[in-house]
Amino acid sequence: MRIILLGAPGAGKGTQAQFLMKKFGIPQISTGDMLRGAIAAGTPLGLEAKKVMDAGQLVSDEIIIGLVKERIAQADCKNGFLLDGFPRTIPQADAMKDAGVAIDVVIEFDVADEVIVERMSGRRVHAASGRVYHVVYNPPKVEGQDDETGEALSIRDDDKEETVRKRLGVYHEQTEPLIGYYQAEAKQGAVRYLKIDGTKPVEEVSQLLSEQLN
Ligand code: AP5
Ligand code: ZN
Repeated sequence: MRIILLGAPGAGKGTQAQFLMKKFGIPQISTGDMLRGAIAAGTPLGLEAKKVMDAGQLVSDEIIIGLVKERIAQADCKNGFLLDGFPRTIPQADAMKDAGVAIDVVIEFDVADEVIVERMSGRRVHAASGRVYHVVYNPPKVEGQDDETGEALSIRDDDKEETVRKRLGVYHEQTEPLIGYYQAEAKQGAVRYLKIDGTKPVEEVSQLLSEQLN
């Protein structure tokens, strides 16, 4: 199964990716996690990406498309993958099409901006694994610690309210057009398009996905 998770920052893509990975046994490809990995490793890409991400803007299509193409060519992607946070511009979507990457399902998480701003203020992450928590809505078993490793959780640099609002603006301008793009693909029978109410509690969203993806 080849899945695209589409939705605003904080819509729940990373959270549901954890669930879908286990359900289908396919890897999560989060371009955001890949970029944060490059920042942590201090690579030239990381240094460049940090400035852009802290400003709430998008990293260039060229760089991102290169990263994803390289990643999906790896052996563990043979039976499918979950794209989380990619594509997020029309050129990125076109690049997948041009490369002959067939997508089975596009899942759109629909969540209003104000809900998102509140969610982001309580987000905690385990950077090494990409696992995501929320202090109220999806708390770890032990406060401040990752469930699987016990390691400390952290707050993402781009989760300040001001940056979240900028990211939402960028989403509406550059990523939202992909909704129409993939709905048109669905009309031609090229993909399945699923719109999910992302404001429901985490388990209910997972349940909806389970029902719809059978
Ligand atoms: P990226 O890491 O992809 O961030 P994003 O798309 O902005 O999305 P988030 O990770 O913030 O949100 P999410 O939908 O995964 O929500 P989550 O599950 O964590 O990208 C970061 C940056 O990298 C970009 O700004 C850009 O600069 C760059 N970048 C990345 N990809 C790029 C690309 N393709 N092209 C160009 N640049 C790129 O949930 C959020 C919070 O809500 C958590 O606390 C969670 O516990 C909670 N929550 C989740 N679901 C629910 C629920 N149902 N109810 C209540 N709370 C919930
Ligand atoms: Zn995410």
